[in-house]
Amino acid sequence: MSVEHDILDLELADEGRLKIEWADRQMPVLARIRERFEKERPLDGVKIAACLHVTTETANLMRTLSAGGADVALCASNPLSTQDTTAAGLVEAYGIPTFAIRGVAETQYYGHIKSVLDRRPMITMDDGNDLVTMLHTQRPDQLHEVIGGTEETTTGIIRLRAMEADGVLGYPVVGVNEALTKHLFDNRYGTGQSAIDGIIRATNILLAGRTVVVCGYGMCGRGVASRAKGMGADVIVTEVEPTRALEAAMDGFRVMTGRDAASQGDVFVTVTGNKHVLDSQHFELMKDGAIMCNAGHFDIEINLQALRSMANGSRRVRQEVEEFSMGGDRRIYVLAEGRLVNLAAAEGHPAAVMDMSFANQALCAEWMVQNAASLQKKVYVVPTEIDREVARLKLETMGVRIDELTAGQRTYLEGWQEGT
Ligand code: ADE
Repeated sequence: MSVEHDILDLELADEGRLKIEWADRQMPVLARIRERFEKERPLDGVKIAACLHVTTETANLMRTLSAGGADVALCASNPLSTQDTTAAGLVEAYGIPTFAIRGVAETQYYGHIKSVLDRRPMITMDDGNDLVTMLHTQRPDQLHEVIGGTEETTTGIIRLRAMEADGVLGYPVVGVNEALTKHLFDNRYGTGQSAIDGIIRATNILLAGRTVVVCGYGMCGRGVASRAKGMGADVIVTEVEPTRALEAAMDGFRVMTGRDAASQGDVFVTVTGNKHVLDSQHFELMKDGAIMCNAGHFDIEINLQALRSMANGSRRVRQEVEEFSMGGDRRIYVLAEGRLVNLAAAEGHPAAVMDMSFANQALCAEWMVQNAASLQKKVYVVPTEIDREVARLKLETMGVRIDELTAGQRTYLEGWQEGT
């Protein structure tokens, strides 16, 4: 049976399959869930439309859902993050309908989302809410067929909460990012390592002795700042939220306004989820050679339109590096077109952290099916039992054993009479 697809080249399938298997070796929690799913088939006959970064890690999630009996189809959640080898492997080796080509223009990107929606999903799995938005705005007639959805990122969850507040959310959605076993690890260690990896692969610069400005000190920002510091950079943090700014200061970083940081930074990394965090007021102060990149979900954090209008011209100087001439001898640089540098210039988060994020995704899909009748049209957090189970399995697969509370300790924690 031929598998529906729109991908670059099926000839890349062997390379893709080997890379998917390589990632799988780092994803033991997901593998255990897959083994159980094969036996229990909790997703039998459930149509799932997934809009995720098409990476080797995502491929292993697709295999797991499929092992659970789901009829899955995948499209990309960003035009620059698709690994064409993985897309080919998914179609050829695993029979998963896939619609994703790296570097497509906007119309084809949205066309791919339409292709997975054409399969009339009962569950949506989104990363950034593009699929959910299209379903609500262009296919409202399909909403009643959907029992629930999951959302991977902070950015997507913010949008879903806005939809819930406006009374337009058409079905229940679990915000997977809210799980501790997601954001404490994926956002911090995943973004921390992969954003630095993207910067280095794109530029091959030395970070030691450089000033790195991290804009935003959420979980992702904390990860980037700590990894940049670990590589010998002098790290400045900019923040708008006072508690986070205070935390950054007490974590040992210099904290200042974006304008003050603008003239000092060698490398700027935006991780805020907000728009125009780096704008004309900053571009005009940046020194010759300054490099900007973004590790937040959308490509709106650096105001590229303003930069293009200020610059005398631009040219591509390396595959993921665009140089802007700012007058005189001053040139500043943008990596990966301002899109997620960790996925566009590197391979995204390492499989070992995606193991936990995608274990949460798989278990939340199962939970949605089991609880479909009682769920309301709102944003849910990941049930604590699932979060704990993912942590327990991860520790077990890492060979780490921990203590259990004694009966006396349990009684002590539950009571109030025992004092000093
Ligand atoms: N988001 C960040 N890294 C990722 C990866 N490796 N796969 C899928 N989604 C991701």
